[in-house]
Amino acid sequence: MRILLFSGKGGVGKTSLAAATGLELSRLGYRTLVMSVDPAHSLADAFDLETELFHGKTGDPYTINERLAIHEVNIQKEIKRHWREISAYVISVLRTTGISDVEAEELAILPGMEELSALMYVNQFRREQRYDVIVLDCAPTAESMRFVSMPTTLEWYMKHIFAFQRGLLKAVRPIANRVAPFELPSDDYFANIQNLFGRLAGIDELLEDPQITSVRLVTNPERMVLSETQRAFVYFTLHGLAVDGILVNRVLPPEVTDAYFQEWRASQARILEEIDAYFAPVPVKRIPLFTHEVLGRERLEELARALYTTGEDPAAIGRTEAPYTFAKRDGHYEIRLQLPFAAKGEVGLFKKGDELVVEIGTLRRHIGLPTSMAGLSPGRAKLENRILTVEMKES
Ligand SMILES: Nc1ncnc2c1ncn2[C@@H]1O[C@H](COP(=O)(O)OP(=O)(O)OP(=O)(O)O)[C@@H](O)[C@H]1O
Ligand SMILES: [Mg+2]
Repeated sequence: MRILLFSGKGGVGKTSLAAATGLELSRLGYRTLVMSVDPAHSLADAFDLETELFHGKTGDPYTINERLAIHEVNIQKEIKRHWREISAYVISVLRTTGISDVEAEELAILPGMEELSALMYVNQFRREQRYDVIVLDCAPTAESMRFVSMPTTLEWYMKHIFAFQRGLLKAVRPIANRVAPFELPSDDYFANIQNLFGRLAGIDELLEDPQITSVRLVTNPERMVLSETQRAFVYFTLHGLAVDGILVNRVLPPEVTDAYFQEWRASQARILEEIDAYFAPVPVKRIPLFTHEVLGRERLEELARALYTTGEDPAAIGRTEAPYTFAKRDGHYEIRLQLPFAAKGEVGLFKKGDELVVEIGTLRRHIGLPTSMAGLSPGRAKLENRILTVEMKES
């Protein structure tokens, strides 16, 4: 099974590209599911479905054609299915604050519930081998970062806190409930957490396996959008996810010659060059700005044709190696960079803002640094077996 994760800044075209990719995959014969991980679902809208008809059926995949289904996680149904005890407990605590039942129920939809529910479905569909490809249409960058780090965070919690908390509460609950301002969570609450955790087992390995999961970053040829895309790239790399494509959407097509757009054209050309240089060797694709919104099946198919030239398989595994990795060894931060070529002696290193710039002959690579390393400068560098290791130190 393959998982294709579409992420990027708000409004860049993630949903449209994910939906178009789903259509193309189904055309090629893959059993495909496009799943929305964004609480502000708009997948049904992209397919221009009668929303009432669709929403009546959500909670389960909705069939588009014989090999394509779409799925928008319905949080109300999920709470009934998976979060009953957790949610009941949170509601009971909120009620003690004096707010109304309706408000309590609204507030008991905790951040992360929808994302975790989506991950549980991915895991379930994988076990059932129901689909060949699952396309994930993510929420804007910040939330999709939380999405991919959730399994790790949860695992940490289960390992270090859960058993302790559960055991402790078992012991103190009878007494504490008499004095605490609200009821402490019952053991059912913990059983619910454990059950959910069980449903998520293995999902982090799935996301970090480049043979299974590929991240496609959607961007626009604009300065502000590019900055966020670069941060997203660093973040996904840091989390061990393979980004194997950059999709630059809404590029002005050559037939737009109106003087009004001249400045746009020049700035897009500059940013496109920058995008190629920054993300190399990750392949960059350009998708034109259409004359219209991309709504409904026909227009999504048109978008798919612009996105995948003949014979190209969206499910193909692009890159499996991270272009660089970050590590901390003996208290020192280090960056390891794969170099396709380059001999010793011709490597130049310098800092530019919170990026490390590596120059090898005429080739230049910009590496966005994670916050922990942003204040450091490059120190010693060592080249071995085409891997450049750069030590980062206090400047
Ligand atoms: N290449 C394009 N040409 C013209 N319109 C486009 C193109 N790509 C996307 N659109 C339109 O732009 C709007 C936003 O696209 P879309 O909903 O896919 O973005 P998104 O990244 O999913 O947004 P959000 O962050 O809100 O989820 C939609 O109306 C869509 O039809
Ligand atoms: Mg969207």
